[in-house]
Amino acid sequence: MQLLDGNFCSAEIRKEIKQQVDAIKARGERVPHLAAVLVGNDGASENYVAFKAKDCAEVGFDSTTIRLSADISEQELLEKVAELNADAAIDGFIVQLPLPKHIDTNKIILAIDPNKDVDGFSPVSVGNMLLGLPTFLSATPNGIMELFRRYQIETEGKHCVVLGRSNIVGTPVSVLMSRNANPGNATVTLAHSRTRNLAELCRSADILIVAIGKTEFVTADMVKDGAVVVDVGQTRVPDASKKSGFRNVGDVDFDNVKEKCSFISYTNGGVGPMTRASLLQNTLKANQRR
Ligand code: GUN
Repeated sequence: MQLLDGNFCSAEIRKEIKQQVDAIKARGERVPHLAAVLVGNDGASENYVAFKAKDCAEVGFDSTTIRLSADISEQELLEKVAELNADAAIDGFIVQLPLPKHIDTNKIILAIDPNKDVDGFSPVSVGNMLLGLPTFLSATPNGIMELFRRYQIETEGKHCVVLGRSNIVGTPVSVLMSRNANPGNATVTLAHSRTRNLAELCRSADILIVAIGKTEFVTADMVKDGAVVVDVGQTRVPDASKKSGFRNVGDVDFDNVKEKCSFISYTNGGVGPMTRASLLQNTLKANQRR
């Protein structure tokens, strides 16, 4: 079994990006600038946004975090998005999800200028991805593809089962895995809560991508010998033995499943850092496009 080490790969990507930023500076151009909007103070979201700011500092990007109160109105948030769309100093921005229940997430995503949509969530970005046109690929699916690329994992002709059909992970990664590219060219099954015979289906997967948000859902009996398993899940569960009071648990029963895999990603240090690295890649692209 080999670990798909997202910490290692993302550090490599940050090094590559930093070299490009150094070249931008040497040309006397403006360095990339990423903004993140954080509504409320959900612990996990606070954490992600803090990491994103740290990543930006490491590669030499400018970054801005905009903190808004959890009771901000939808209209006020739309105004903030319009302000960021118009701000020439900002190359790209993200609105950290999830948003409070009284705000319609789709309305906010639709308001983001596709040229600044470094999350790759807008219909324009998703549509371009579907058609194989140049675009901002959404960060987590692209981070998974980057892991396959860097570990030279053969995907062509393989059966890839994706568990979970969310707009930000399951659905887009199923598209990327099936398109005529490398990585890609897999035969993809997108499984979800209504899928029948899920365990049997998972056992037929050469590549299993799990993004359903149910802790340790995938057990060893659901995995074929030699499979490649990517665990996107990251749920905080209380843990008194930790200083933070919680630990992150994945969607895969890692300790038991790992024995059966050729490659597996670990919850901490797998897909998460790759998502952040993809966001940096998209921000660099946004800067260079402008
Ligand atoms: N929440 C969980 N993952 C993401 C992400 O990739 N982007 C944003 N904006 N919010 C998230």
